[in-house]
Amino acid sequence: MTNSDFRTPALDALAQQVIPAEHFEFSAETAKQRFFNDTRMLDVKQWVHNAFRTNPKSMVDHMLDNLALTGREDLLDLGCGNGFVLEYLRPHLCEGSITGLDIAPAVLAAAQERLHGTATPCTWIEGSADDLAQLSDDSFDRVMANYMIHYVPDLERCFAEVRRVLRDGGVFQLTTDRTDSMLEMYQVHFAALDAMDAPKDLFKATPKGRFSLANGAPTLRKYFSVVETVTWQDQLRFTDPDPFMRFYTVGHNHCCASSEPDPRLDEKFFAELRDRVRRQVQQEIDERGYFAVTKFTGSFLCR
Ligand SMILES: C[S@@+](CC[C@H](N)C(=O)[O-])C[C@H]1O[C@@H](n2cnc3c(N)ncnc32)[C@H](O)[C@@H]1O
Repeated sequence: MTNSDFRTPALDALAQQVIPAEHFEFSAETAKQRFFNDTRMLDVKQWVHNAFRTNPKSMVDHMLDNLALTGREDLLDLGCGNGFVLEYLRPHLCEGSITGLDIAPAVLAAAQERLHGTATPCTWIEGSADDLAQLSDDSFDRVMANYMIHYVPDLERCFAEVRRVLRDGGVFQLTTDRTDSMLEMYQVHFAALDAMDAPKDLFKATPKGRFSLANGAPTLRKYFSVVETVTWQDQLRFTDPDPFMRFYTVGHNHCCASSEPDPRLDEKFFAELRDRVRRQVQQEIDERGYFAVTKFTGSFLCR
């Protein structure tokens, strides 16, 4: 796949129009208590990203290329979630070890269960990625932070800690998106909010603006002498609105509409929002044959 498969002047124009410049932040407590107090969000997102992708190469295939594992590495996964990525990497670490760290006990327990009984030794740590005090200097050959860095409160401390625990010659893989990734979803979402005359502070798009694939390299260069950016693209295509609606509603509560609890927004509000978004998606499917969600994603590989 080349960039030109999905990137079009129309999408560029749409990104300018749809994605607000200002990002917003979640509190660590919100991540832990609200979004990852069970595996529901992860399960739905992982299913949709895989079942509806048009790029023949999956996210984990890209990571396997990035990590160039020999099988003997000690690997640390920050924000390991339910162990979805680790399950795929495990057979490539037969003589190595896995350490999974996550702030949310519910998803960490799911990861532990998922990898239970595998021959590779696994250690599970409940904690925040910006405090690795319980890990020794120079103890890992690979450190990963996949689709989680936007939750971490103290990014500078996190990167300094990763540098400290990473052995010389090791690789830190940080995987994240550009802020204009999946902008067709934001477009239908914002159009529905607009039609409902919703409060302006709900038009806030993504928390990834604080640190994204487009703006993250200079910060990483303070801690790592080599920072390479590897990008890949994908396009989810939905011919039925149902799976898209599951994806949309689970994502931080309707595309971040109510990422923090908000007494102004009741079930009636969300029912109308869902109805309006669904009608736009159905219309696009009727006219074009599918509803597309274009992804601009990738990894920083730091040494
Ligand atoms: C979108 S999930 C990504 C999970 C996994 N890396 C993957 O790619 O499938 C984000 C994960 O980061 C975790 N998380 C959020 N804040 C964190 C923090 N400060 N330190 C460690 N993990 C955190 C969440 O609990 C969640 O499991």
